[in-house]
Amino acid sequence: MILVLLGAPGAGKGTLAEYLKDVLKVPVISTGNLLRDAIAQGTELGTAAKQYMDKGQLVPDELIVGITLQKLSSDDCSSGAILDGFPRTVAQAEALDAHLKVDMALSIEVPDEQIVSRMAGRRTCPKCQSTYHVVNNPPKQEGVCDNCGTELETRRDDATEVVRKRLSVYHSQTEPVKQYYAQQGKLVSMDGVGSVAETEHRGLQALEAWL
Ligand code: AP5
Repeated sequence: MILVLLGAPGAGKGTLAEYLKDVLKVPVISTGNLLRDAIAQGTELGTAAKQYMDKGQLVPDELIVGITLQKLSSDDCSSGAILDGFPRTVAQAEALDAHLKVDMALSIEVPDEQIVSRMAGRRTCPKCQSTYHVVNNPPKQEGVCDNCGTELETRRDDATEVVRKRLSVYHSQTEPVKQYYAQQGKLVSMDGVGSVAETEHRGLQALEAWL
């Protein structure tokens, strides 16, 4: 199954993806994590992407489409995948459709004002990319990743002014992707406000109803 997770920055796509991957038994492809790995490794892609990400802009379609489709073609994804952060433009959605069949697009809805406060509390692991929140989803030991023991960091693009830019980019460039999947009868929207456990439960219900 190919499940696309849509939603504003900080809506909880990465958190829900990690939960649903065990249900669907398919890997998660997070384009944000792919790009952050590329930056950490100092690759050509990472150097090109960083200038856009630091400003809260989308990286150009030609930088992200090829690498994502390549990941989807790997043996790991033979049973499907959960896509977190892709597609983010209608052109990306069209490129994905030309490559394989998307089964469902699940959009997590959270008002902008809640996003800004969520992002201020997010902490991420630079090594394994696990995500936490200082209040809503804290690690067992403050400031340390539960999975690999690495010191947690605040993402550069979680600064409030960058979050506001990312939200405006989301509304102008990514929201049309919802309409794209709605026209195909594949869009399901869910409320992303509430505790992490509540939204995981809602996501699972939406998925089960769809299946
Ligand atoms: P990316 O890393 O994909 O960022 P994003 O979409 O902006 O989403 P986030 O990862 O910030 O949030 P999320 O929805 O996964 O929320 P999370 O689960 O972490 O992309 C970064 C950048 O890369 C982009 O700006 C762009 O430049 C570039 N990029 C990536 N893909 C691209 C593409 N396809 N095309 C072009 N450019 C691309 O949750 C957020 C916080 O809230 C966490 O702290 C979490 O613990 C907490 N939380 C989660 N759920 C809940 C809940 N229910 N209640 C309370 N708190 C919650």
